[in-house]
Amino acid sequence: MDSFKFYLPVTIFFGEGEFARVKKAARDTGKRALIVIGQGSVKKQGYLGRLEKLLDEEKIYHEVFEGIEPNPRSTTINKAGEQARKMNADMVIALGGGSVMDASKGLAIVAKSCDDIWDYCGVSGRKTKKALDALPIICIPTLAATGSEVNYGAVITNPDKKLKSAIHDEKVMPKYAIIDPALTMTVPTDYLVDGAVDIICHCVETYLSNKEDFLVPDYLTLALIRTVKISIEKALENPKDISPRGDLLWASSMAMMRLTSGRNGAWPLHEIEHGISAIYDISHGFGLALVLPATLKFNKQHNPERINKMIGFLLHENSGFYNNVDKAINDLTSWLNKIGALRDLKKGGLKNMDIDLITNSIINTYGDGEKGQEFIYGVAPMYKDDIKTILRLALEQKAF
Ligand code: NZQ
Ligand code: ZN
Repeated sequence: MDSFKFYLPVTIFFGEGEFARVKKAARDTGKRALIVIGQGSVKKQGYLGRLEKLLDEEKIYHEVFEGIEPNPRSTTINKAGEQARKMNADMVIALGGGSVMDASKGLAIVAKSCDDIWDYCGVSGRKTKKALDALPIICIPTLAATGSEVNYGAVITNPDKKLKSAIHDEKVMPKYAIIDPALTMTVPTDYLVDGAVDIICHCVETYLSNKEDFLVPDYLTLALIRTVKISIEKALENPKDISPRGDLLWASSMAMMRLTSGRNGAWPLHEIEHGISAIYDISHGFGLALVLPATLKFNKQHNPERINKMIGFLLHENSGFYNNVDKAINDLTSWLNKIGALRDLKKGGLKNMDIDLITNSIINTYGDGEKGQEFIYGVAPMYKDDIKTILRLALEQKAF
């Protein structure tokens, strides 16, 4: 196994009705909370009202910052940080999906430093600031996807530079994660499916970027992706059943709490997707659904056995099911199609996507290597032309 540091100082409450635990979490954390929400869904669903009532019962002063975008912008995060500072907040409560939780981590740094949050995001060839301090964070996820509630990463988009990058800073590890599947019952079908694809990709990134086996992380990976496959199908079949929503939500947390540590490796699916959504502002999971089969087609000469095993277990609970990698990738693509992950691209404007622009965004953010020979890491280095091939393959998929 590879060496690793496992750092998870977050208290997790999981289960239907556990939302009310925010009273204890907030009481333990401070007296003045900035509640952070997205573009209104949690207000419409009544979750915000319930949260405010629970905080009132604890006599915790609170204000709301509304308007975090999906693919949160550094500019919005800077504004939210200013509000936290002005109101003298001593905690941040994130109520929403990954975008809200990531933005909350960013503003927790801005509130203490007055800096532009973009200075903390890793961009290749640039020195990244490390946070000296951050407000404590309570995360309440309303969508099963990112697992942001149990890690210290935050993905942020710079709209002017058209780059999407991440903070990795232990100072923004949430203090509490209150994970209540009931809050995810209202997630629209598209985002439900995108979230499932995201969880699968979190599990398989380092699985696919290695050629040899790593027993503990590999078996955990296979168990998680199989769980997601079964659960998303159940959730689509019966949207009112809370049980598969719970399985998806806990799988999303488990996938991103570094349980599969011991197998280091690259994250090319995410790096390529971030380049797409930095420019076209599409849902992260949708972008991954495009990139996953295309990357597998590109990579199949390097690790066909692991691709076969992964898809065999995901689709059939049998890692020996495939010995033909093209068939395996085709079946995966058909399944993504069946659950609605590969949607029409017209809305996102992707049909005519500017492949050069996206490639430059990816290389400028995540690239390594000499000028003119830059690459991102995968099972083998992926140079600019390789990334362009993958983007072209993504556009050629059957669904479009
Ligand atoms: O904006 P609102 O009104 O809240 O609506 C959201 C948004 O439109 C809606 N939604 C969320 N919960 C809902 C709901 N609608 C109804 N009922 C609910 N219970 O869903 C839409 C998508 O929300 P968003 O937070 O953007 O989705 P997701 O959780 O997939 O987060 C995506 C962001 O996370 C980043 C992505 O790049 C993207 O910016 N990632 C963060 C990671 C991390 N921190 O560890 C890892 C990931 O790989 C990922 O890159
Ligand atoms: Zn992801």
